[in-house]
Amino acid sequence: MSALVSPSILSADFTNLERDLQAISTADYAHVDVMDNHFVPNLTLGLPVVERIVQVSPIPIDVHLMIEDPDRWAPGFAEAGAQSVTFHAEAAAAPVRLARELRRLGARAGLALKPATPVEPYLDLLSEIDMILVMTVEPGFGGQSFIEGTLPKIQRARRAIGEADLDVWLQVDGGISRSTIDRAAEAGANVFVAGSAVYGAEDIPAEIDTLRTMASA
Ligand code: DX5
Ligand code: ZN
Repeated sequence: MSALVSPSILSADFTNLERDLQAISTADYAHVDVMDNHFVPNLTLGLPVVERIVQVSPIPIDVHLMIEDPDRWAPGFAEAGAQSVTFHAEAAAAPVRLARELRRLGARAGLALKPATPVEPYLDLLSEIDMILVMTVEPGFGGQSFIEGTLPKIQRARRAIGEADLDVWLQVDGGISRSTIDRAAEAGANVFVAGSAVYGAEDIPAEIDTLRTMASA
C-alpha cells in the first residue's frame, strides 16, 4: 500500500504559517491540529485560521479536531474546504450523523481514537467513514514518544478494515519518526502524521521523502 505523509503544522512557526506550508509542499496533506483546552489540555487555533490555511496551502488540509462538541463545529471545517476532517469518537454525540454530514459537504470523514479507546465498539461505523486515526500518543502536544502499546490496536483496525473489504485509510499520529514509522506501517497504518520529525529536520522535503519511502517498504 502506498504511504501518505501528513506533516503536522503544530510544529511550524505560527507567525510564518504560509512559509511553513510551502515548506511541506511535497507532502500529501498538511495536518492541522485544532485544540480547545477542554477535550485536551492545550489550545491552538480555530476555524478562522483554518479558513485562511485552506486558501494558501499548496496541498490538501487534514484537520484533526481535539475538541468537545465536534457535532457542532466539525461541519464548518468541511465548509471551509478542508479535504479531510477527523473528530474524536470520545467527544462525538452522534458520530454516524456527523460523518454523513462531513461527507455530504465533500470532505473525507475521519474518526479518531485516543490511545486507551478500543477500536471494537466502532467497527460498525467503518462503512460510514473514510479514515480511522489511531492516536499513538495522548493527544494535546507535539514532541511526545510513540506509545508501543498502540501497535496491536493498529493491527486490529487494519484487519477489520480488510475483513469488511473497505477502502478506509488508517492514520497514526504522535511520535512518528524514522525510528517508529516502519513499525506503524507494518502494523497496517497508511497515513502518517509527523510534526517534530518533519519540521525539526534540516532538509524538510528530504525528510518527507525518507518517511514516505520507509513506510512504503
Ligand atoms: C498531538 C497532535 C499531533 C502532533 C504530533 O496531539 O495530534 O498531530 O502534532 O506531533 P509529533 O509528530 O511531534 O509527535
Ligand atoms: Zn494531530
